[in-house]
Amino acid sequence: MNTRLVAAKVLSRVLQDGQSLTAALDNALLAVESVKDRAFIQALCYGVCRQYHRLDFILSQLLDKPLKDADVKALALVGLYQLNFMRVKPHAAVSETVLAARKKPWAKSLINALLRTYLREQEGLERKADKFQVAALSHPDWLIKQIEQDWPEQALTILQENNQQPPMVLRVNLSKTSREDYLQLLAGQDIAGESVSFCPSAIKLDKPAPVDLLPGFAGGLVSVQDTAAQLAAGLLDVQPGHRVLDVCAAPGGKTAHILETQPQLKELVAVDIDEARMQRVSENLQRLNLQAKLVVGDAANPSSWWDGQSFDRILLDAPCSALGVIRRHPDIKLLRRAEDIGQLQALQKSILQAIWPLLAPGGLLLYATCSVLKQENERQVQAFLVEHADAVELSIDADWGISGICGHQILTGESAMDGFYYALLSKSPKQHV
Ligand SMILES: C[S@@+](CC[C@H](N)C(=O)[O-])C[C@H]1O[C@@H](n2cnc3c(N)ncnc32)[C@H](O)[C@@H]1O
Repeated sequence: MNTRLVAAKVLSRVLQDGQSLTAALDNALLAVESVKDRAFIQALCYGVCRQYHRLDFILSQLLDKPLKDADVKALALVGLYQLNFMRVKPHAAVSETVLAARKKPWAKSLINALLRTYLREQEGLERKADKFQVAALSHPDWLIKQIEQDWPEQALTILQENNQQPPMVLRVNLSKTSREDYLQLLAGQDIAGESVSFCPSAIKLDKPAPVDLLPGFAGGLVSVQDTAAQLAAGLLDVQPGHRVLDVCAAPGGKTAHILETQPQLKELVAVDIDEARMQRVSENLQRLNLQAKLVVGDAANPSSWWDGQSFDRILLDAPCSALGVIRRHPDIKLLRRAEDIGQLQALQKSILQAIWPLLAPGGLLLYATCSVLKQENERQVQAFLVEHADAVELSIDADWGISGICGHQILTGESAMDGFYYALLSKSPKQHV
């Protein structure tokens, strides 16, 4: 098996067909048995997506005209990535990458020539890339502009953080064990990690570890979830007897956390439009031995699934651009388009408006996104408040994030967290006349 070829084919699915990296990689890895090979293919695919805009610029400098063959282009990027970003010996990187092109003789000599030219001219080419913003920051131009517009002072940090590998963070199931006891279990397996001071369930691991090595994972002692996402359950402040609605719930990370936090709920109803993703909610709840009512339905059209009884708490983890989790899904930089943002904003608005009537007077709705764009976040909530006289924003007083016009924003990388946004809305109690 030529691991470079497998990686190139995965990348070609992303670059040419617009498939998500997770889907393309999961599919390709089914045929790869060796753990070492799997890890190498994964590192190549994630790395090339992370550095795509830089590598593509360098490739353009090495070619007279753009490469039309998507597989060969992907292989060239895989070659360049190894030479600049990996500790693979250059001669091995070149010969193995060239070997991967053996079925296309023209491509074999082209890749050989361009990788060798790169090695000869590496310093000058990298200097040139540093002067061209898209290549230097390895982001598409529209996204750089959008982030600079929203966060002029923090943009550079956000863009640099987007290119880092994210930490693996665990959520300890505090209904079953304490964080201190779980840290000891981890230490017993030689897995090092530290508590996150402002989030009672979170442990940040020093190095990612396979979930099968996490003590008690299968038995529901722990889950994998970024710290930023673990803040939702606390903000929702669920109390015994509450009826809770979790809309846009799949794959159920926050659903499970809410249930772990408060075992005496009257009911939790989890809704998602995607049946396959809903299956993952079911699997996650099963592992954790938790119960919820799972509904496959459109959150923007509650009349098709709502039983007419109001909810004391609603979590709306809205579908969004996911620009706050680029570290975890670097293919977002390749697949997301500027025009998607307006469409997502419209979808978020329609869901928010449709579910607001389901909230009981005096109840709380937590609006969340994993985006750093104001259009999806504070401007969305601000417009909602203007149109809904019975909605009041409650300020979030926390040791993390930035307060804006409304809501609270975590910018990617703050305390090693994903980029996230939260706004807490309360519905005014009924006025008696
Ligand atoms: C950010 S993810 C939710 C993550 C989840 N809350 C968690 O913590 O694991 C957004 C979800 O919204 C769902 N979604 C998108 N449009 C929807 C709609 N109109 N109605 C219901 N769910 C929708 C997607 O299928 C996706 O699972």
